[in-house]
Amino acid sequence: MRDEGKRIGFVPTMGFLHEGHGALIRQSAARCDATVVSIFVNPNQFGPGEDLASYPRDLERDQNLCLETGATVLFLPEVAEIYPTGFQTHVEPGHLADTLCGRYRPGHFRGVATVVAKLFNIVQPDLAFFGQKDFQQTAVIRRMARDLNLPVDVVVVPTVREADGLALSSRNTYLDEEARQRALTLSQGLLAAKAAFDEGELEPVKLVALARTLMTGADSIQYLELVDAQTLEPLQGPVDRSAVLCVAAYVGSTRLIDNVLLSPS
Ligand code: PAJ
Repeated sequence: MRDEGKRIGFVPTMGFLHEGHGALIRQSAARCDATVVSIFVNPNQFGPGEDLASYPRDLERDQNLCLETGATVLFLPEVAEIYPTGFQTHVEPGHLADTLCGRYRPGHFRGVATVVAKLFNIVQPDLAFFGQKDFQQTAVIRRMARDLNLPVDVVVVPTVREADGLALSSRNTYLDEEARQRALTLSQGLLAAKAAFDEGELEPVKLVALARTLMTGADSIQYLELVDAQTLEPLQGPVDRSAVLCVAAYVGSTRLIDNVLLSPS
């Protein structure tokens, strides 16, 4: 297809697909002639004690979602295909990977950047689609594509939420009904801060405090930070540029992340 000058879209995933992944595939299908979806649970982006072994899988359901949403090629590499014996070369992201999740998941973004660079080289897409849900991941990958002259346009797709606001995530499957209700308080906090911002509240301290008071369902909040959307550095003064309010929290033993963009008009 590449030889025919067709435009190739790529959606890298770790499977257990939901409508968030579906939105990326749909957007790729709308903009490209062919859409490659990869499913690869990348061991190198999980830390010790994280959920690599228990990461949810359902290939048959994933295949159906890919067909329904317009994917044309499903790429399902084995671990040994991506990391053959002797593998030792990595992509090391810079300080964009040190804040937020990077502080609590050392090596995570190195693992993400390395596998995404490899997948880009294997698939050689024109466009690659990532979700805003993983905001820091989009920043790291955009930077990597620029810094390493990767000939891929990185497209970021808005977060898909349930009707009540909960961000779709493969890890939501770990939540029972009671935990799900508690998880909902995370998006409620973020969306309330966004509403206050839209009504004129520009003080980071107040926006963060408002979000935090509503996040009562979390067992612990790992971080809740309002950062510059470009640099991911904490905002020092009133929101005068594109910013993003990011949270990572535990509900039971499930770690969830979410964010909202605050863009001054
Ligand atoms: P995974 O968590 O499967 O997510 C694959 C893609 O789907 C990511 O770009 C993610 O941001 C996007 N996504 C997840 N939930 C979403 C939602 N609710 N709305 C919109 N997009 C959503 O992210 C990864 O896999 C991996 O780190 C990967 C990039 C595949 C590298 O291993």
